[in-house]
Amino acid sequence: MKRLENKVAVITGSARGIGFAIASAFASEGALAVVIDLFQDAVDASVGQINDQGYKAAGFAADVTDPQSIERTFAEILAQHTRIDILVNNAGITRDNLIMKMSEEDWDNVLKVNLKGTFNCIQKISRPMMKQREGVIINIASVIGISGNAGQANYAASKGGVIALTKSAAKEFASRNIRVNAVAPGFIQTEMTASLPEAVINNYLDSIPLKRGGTAADVANLCIFLASEDASYITGQTINVDGGLIM
Ligand code: NAI
Repeated sequence: MKRLENKVAVITGSARGIGFAIASAFASEGALAVVIDLFQDAVDASVGQINDQGYKAAGFAADVTDPQSIERTFAEILAQHTRIDILVNNAGITRDNLIMKMSEEDWDNVLKVNLKGTFNCIQKISRPMMKQREGVIINIASVIGISGNAGQANYAASKGGVIALTKSAAKEFASRNIRVNAVAPGFIQTEMTASLPEAVINNYLDSIPLKRGGTAADVANLCIFLASEDASYITGQTINVDGGLIM
């Protein structure tokens, strides 16, 4: 029996990277994976890849920083598929710099996508999920939101905020049988981390007890578990997928 049979799962920022891995993994477990990302071409290409593997996917271009765009998109998904069982807030960006050098724009943009974007999607899904009296929300945070990191004050603050938002939403929604958890990946090999200098990458690899970078599939596997009935008594938690980097 597939673990997410007939569920409707919406994954933001899923045209590539970790989000795409989550969408593909959910689809392979029987869900309809609804891909949301900024650009229609990229969305269509990702939906096509999932369909080509024989799994169900649909896609919408939408920007998580724009509450109206998210509201319209969710309304469209609900009109077509009647429910949204799972929401994964994965869309995220980095604009790294030391605090002394960080522009106001870089601070604002990272907070806007990572934290407010997650809030926007949670807020817009809250009414339909409450009506369903059932649902799962998974927020992709980061171990940096727990440990902090020099050169990533904006990113760390946004992801720490996502963890606090997760706990608050878990408390608000629990009585309606909606579970809200956060996943905190460590160093995962995607396009986001490919642009880091080699010395920074080697430094990370040295400090990971399991001595390897994670894959997007490592993160997706935890998301399948959290989205499934196997995790029905887990809410408000932040679970690291980081090879032991943060303990
Ligand atoms: P990525 O850069 O490969 O993919 C992010 C996706 O989000 C892109 O497709 C992008 O177009 C989309 N996106 C960006 N802004 C958006 C917006 N306003 N509205 C809708 N979509 C938007 O990044 P990656 O590595 O796959 O990261 C995914 C998530 O995992 C992010 O939240 C990131 O912070 C988090 N994460 C990644 C880690 C890593 O090592 N790669 C480690 C810890 C957390």
